[in-house]
Amino acid sequence: MKILVLNGPNLNMLGKREPGIYGSNTLLELEKSIQDAGGKLGVEIRCFQSNYEGALLDEIHQAADKGFAGIIMNPGAFTHYSIALRDAISSIDIPVIEVHISNVHAREEFRKHSVTAPVSIGQIAGFGFYGYEMALNAMKEYVKGREA
Ligand code: DQA
Repeated sequence: MKILVLNGPNLNMLGKREPGIYGSNTLLELEKSIQDAGGKLGVEIRCFQSNYEGALLDEIHQAADKGFAGIIMNPGAFTHYSIALRDAISSIDIPVIEVHISNVHAREEFRKHSVTAPVSIGQIAGFGFYGYEMALNAMKEYVKGREA
């Protein structure tokens, strides 16, 4: 099974960016921990980060054709307003799980609303980097259940 992990805008700044909220580990370290978790689960992982909405859209559109069974995505701030990202998720047949490092529901009002969560199979928020591993477990089970 192949899973695509997408990180949106400003997540390349992990480690430097508001460490009190997002921790002091880098994107590279996050991606390494996801690869390790994938290895343990026997899941092949491709990680991709972009600050550009269109680049994320392209990855979403092409994911199924490239053989990915699902997408784990932290859309960053796009979560809160990108109808284009929402429409891209709606346009594909493979499942998407939304992940946030911080507990977006315990922060500013504007972070409580996600335009992408309603078209995803679920949202995981507030568990730091471990949320991606949780999503990976959930995705594996979800895809297995779908195939059965
Ligand atoms: C975030 C939460 C978003 O509100 C914010 O814009 C981010 C990161 C998170 O992982 O907690 O960029 O998605």
